[in-house]
Amino acid sequence: MPTSRREFLGAAATGAATLALAQEAPPTTAQTVIGMRFEPLNPRLGMIGVGGRGTSLLKNFLAADVQVQAICDVVAEKAQQAQSLVTKAGQAAPELYTNGDHAFESLVAREDLNLVVIATPWRWHVPMAVAAMRHGKHTATEVPAATTIEECWQLVDTAEQTRRHCIMLENCCYGENEMLVLAMVRAGLFGDLLYGEAAYLHDLREELFSNKGQGLWRRTIHTERDGNLYPTHGLGPVANYMGINRGDRFDYLVSMSTPSKGLAAYRAAHVPAGDPKWQEKYIDGDMNVSLIKTANGLVINLQHDVSNPHPYDRLNSIAGTKGIFKDYPPRIYFDGQPGGEDYGSIEPYKAQYESPLWKKQGEIARKLGGHGGMDFIECYRLVECIRHGLAPDLDVYDAAAWSAPAPLSRQSLARGSAPIPFPDFTRGKWKDRKGSPIAQIEA
Ligand SMILES: NC(=O)c1ccc[n+]([C@@H]2O[C@H](COP(=O)([O-])OP(=O)(O)OC[C@H]3O[C@@H](n4cnc5c(N)ncnc54)[C@H](O)[C@@H]3O)[C@@H](O)[C@H]2O)c1
Repeated sequence: MPTSRREFLGAAATGAATLALAQEAPPTTAQTVIGMRFEPLNPRLGMIGVGGRGTSLLKNFLAADVQVQAICDVVAEKAQQAQSLVTKAGQAAPELYTNGDHAFESLVAREDLNLVVIATPWRWHVPMAVAAMRHGKHTATEVPAATTIEECWQLVDTAEQTRRHCIMLENCCYGENEMLVLAMVRAGLFGDLLYGEAAYLHDLREELFSNKGQGLWRRTIHTERDGNLYPTHGLGPVANYMGINRGDRFDYLVSMSTPSKGLAAYRAAHVPAGDPKWQEKYIDGDMNVSLIKTANGLVINLQHDVSNPHPYDRLNSIAGTKGIFKDYPPRIYFDGQPGGEDYGSIEPYKAQYESPLWKKQGEIARKLGGHGGMDFIECYRLVECIRHGLAPDLDVYDAAAWSAPAPLSRQSLARGSAPIPFPDFTRGKWKDRKGSPIAQIEA
């Protein structure tokens, strides 16, 4: 770690190579879980955290006919509301665990569960996932899976040691457009890939200042750290297009943040004098732009802003030697396309490239509606993989790599935007691993 300015500049100039030592994989004797199949079984689910997101996930798992055995939330009324959703679906009342922050430890110890789903505030994801895996349960956690590099390794090491999967529930990978574009990328329509754009641009100011839901915990994170705090919604789909952890991997990242203005401005306009929120100092730069270089030389522009007026946008763009796709709104341009340099519609490509999952389950997914239907497709697909004894589409290595930009961007910002290497969570296995999640989905 550089201590003087001279050392600091030296580290910045030599970049990834200099800092690489800091990111070496911890030694292990455990085997990889890449490609590890679930033992075919009927999921018996325990849910931890049934606030906004957990309740929505629960509805989707119920729609996929999953047996829900146990529910945990520190707020008893939320657990009871969730319990009534299960009984309304015709199942026996799941047992509730509401006695404090560590009640989840009793839930994960139950013998009858084989899957634990976690939808709690970020700081709880890793302790809960690790405890569930140590008790022999496969685990699916909300995003981001982890908030530090140490936590990313904890997930990887625990999955390998316990031979349990830890899946990050990155629903955007199951979006209709994302799955369509992934199929087109894999069919070679974009040629050799060069760069992608990914983002989480979502005006969360009202939610962050609410006295319920995410307002109770998420605004605080903006007082604790700077960086690309919530990278996975944009990055997951782009990582899939590029085959990250499947023939390529994130190599290093550089990061820049603007000043932090938006939350203080919102508070000045909306929060009465004397409210405890006036004690807070927001330090997360409003717009964070991080650039990721992959081992094969591709570039990803990764943005984050939740503190300012902005129409919702994940960018979701991929470009290669033969064309480019951009989202929000979805549009496509291929070399030689009729109509000059105007973007065209993605509609004509659906007949050939629409995902079989969307073809089969699209109607019910749209009816249930979570994020345009992607939430049901995600839950349905996870359950299908478990029932049929397949390997999951996304694994603990994806969870770790896609969560890592938050802590790595923080490190880069602290070093004047110096390049910071990604750890290789696969311990070299990315080189030989081929294909992409779509290959399995088509199977
Ligand atoms: N994938 C998506 O589209 C999406 C959307 C929204 C939120 N999320 C993620 O879902 C997670 C939850 O977000 P949310 O919007 O539901 O927040 P929320 O505040 O509405 O819900 C969190 C719930 O966890 C409970 N909880 C807190 N600590 C707990 C503990 N120790 N044990 C048991 N329960 C505990 C809270 O009481 C609350 O009910 C976050 O990780 C968030 O990033 C993902």
